[in-house]
Amino acid sequence: MCGITGYTGFNQAGPILLDGLKRLEYRGYDSAGIAVQGEEEIMMLKATGKVSHLVDKYNDTPDFKGVCGIGHTRWATHGIPSDTNAHPHLSADGKFAVVHNGIIENFAEIRAELEKYGIEFKSETDTEVIVQLLAHNYKGNFKMALMKTIAKLEGSYAIGVISADHPGTIFCARLSSPLIIGLGLEENYFASDITALVSNTKDVIDMDDGEVAELTPEGVKIYDHAGREINKAVRHITWDIASAEKSGYEHFMMKEIMEQPQALKATIEPRVKDEEIVFDELKLDMKKFNRVHITACGSAYHAGCVGRGIIEALCRIPVEAEVASELRYRDPIMDDKTLVIVISQSGETADTIAAMKECKYKGATVLAIVNVVGSSIAKLADHCLYTWAGPEIAVATTKGYTTQVVLLAMFAVWAAGELKTISHGAYTSMVKDIMRLPERAQRALDLNSRVMKMADKYYDNQSLFFIGRNMDYAVALEGSLKLKEISYLHSEAYAAGELKHGTIALIEPGRLVVALCCYEKLLDKTISNIQQVKARGARVLAVAHEGNRAIVTEADDVLFVPVTDPLLVPVIEIIPMQLFAYYVAKKNGCDIDKPKNLAKSVTVE
Ligand code: F6R
Repeated sequence: MCGITGYTGFNQAGPILLDGLKRLEYRGYDSAGIAVQGEEEIMMLKATGKVSHLVDKYNDTPDFKGVCGIGHTRWATHGIPSDTNAHPHLSADGKFAVVHNGIIENFAEIRAELEKYGIEFKSETDTEVIVQLLAHNYKGNFKMALMKTIAKLEGSYAIGVISADHPGTIFCARLSSPLIIGLGLEENYFASDITALVSNTKDVIDMDDGEVAELTPEGVKIYDHAGREINKAVRHITWDIASAEKSGYEHFMMKEIMEQPQALKATIEPRVKDEEIVFDELKLDMKKFNRVHITACGSAYHAGCVGRGIIEALCRIPVEAEVASELRYRDPIMDDKTLVIVISQSGETADTIAAMKECKYKGATVLAIVNVVGSSIAKLADHCLYTWAGPEIAVATTKGYTTQVVLLAMFAVWAAGELKTISHGAYTSMVKDIMRLPERAQRALDLNSRVMKMADKYYDNQSLFFIGRNMDYAVALEGSLKLKEISYLHSEAYAAGELKHGTIALIEPGRLVVALCCYEKLLDKTISNIQQVKARGARVLAVAHEGNRAIVTEADDVLFVPVTDPLLVPVIEIIPMQLFAYYVAKKNGCDIDKPKNLAKSVTVE
């Protein structure tokens, strides 16, 4: 979705802003723009389409000079993608320019009010009201005008504003949308996402809701909602720019698939001490809860489906998993004896945030499993466990998903230990198997060239099915989503036993069915479902545990993955499915890292 960035210092702002916008491209966008404080006035450049179009415009405009500016990548919500609707937006008097992430819910009301004063709007966006209202409120004091303006805004925003009358100064503000300030030496930055800043600085301040920042080359001041200056901690980022770049891979998605052993290791190892799972950061009394709800969106929800199975199996407590966009409007039955686990890679997904607010309102305790440190969900939750996957840039999540699953498994083992629902032997065996996941993930990655061959064989199937039972079904959901989101092929995930209740009518000669067969407790059942589709002419690609001989005679092709505990199967089994999706998309000529119509972080409803 949208991304914002800004710079004030002694260098030309243009190249720094454009570099920041390029790093924000992965979030998904359809137009981009930058504005700088020129000698006499604010100058702007905008382009529909890729940031590279904006770079071309910049290179063709030698007069576009200034050492303080703001930039934006826009994912259209109010008004079509066009140069007019692209940010930055300028006030009618040309004195202020703004970039904005989020949605101003009461924009129509503010716009109508300002139009009564004769202010003419140029765009169809909700954002333009911010800058017009700011100019309207301005009586010589930039900060006061901004405070007055944001007090009127409803919805969500992370904004950056410059003024022609205040050279070198940028004001930023945040409400329910991420905003980070980057600190340099006589130059300072802001962005919606650390990846836009990390090539320039590793020292950042995380802004909280209601706060305002004033950036000049000399320093940064942070104010609370009442305009009082406050002190904020500076956070040092430990990962470097290479983590946010492709490191020789053709796509971020492949780089991130290959990084999974390392990401799993980083998530697991610091939390295992003497064969015991230790969450130093978690002060939670499990005995207080009589049920668990898991909520999330997309792949994070699929991780939640795995988590449901593991927590129920080990803790013997009822667990429900539901997509956040449904839960938030369902008036769910929960109270202070309910533990809600929300899962999110970005920590900024609008539906997940709304669902967690609803659950908190009902008295539930919220535990978040999040990758992005300091994100909105991490901040809003009562407790937070971080996956240490590192930055995930490709729109299709891979290491985000597997680290979520492993953290849920670790949580389940830990909670079962607290509740005494697990024997010492079973506990130790689970911990050992969890510790071996990075190495097994590496062995699953060794299937790379074989999966590529499978993709060559099957890439032109226009519609396919993923089937599995129990944990395999949860993987079918994720494998199917991965394939369709990046290759645009129609694909459906089915609980293998459910296929015969209707969908089997769609099985015809040549149709590809991907059969997930690692949950061996139900292998016989899945094999009979394979036989049913084979009898109707389907071709079957199976994923099974090494040493599984039965499957060889049933399926057309088999991808063998290392054996692991049945509850941990998804972490390993999904890996060949991620590779399969990748190579099928590549064969079909798709834009793998930025699939059409999708955004990395879905910050709108
Ligand atoms: C699919 C994918 C999405 C996200 C979903 C939730 O590959 O990435 O389905 O999983 O939008 O995003 P987060 O985890 O950031 O809340």
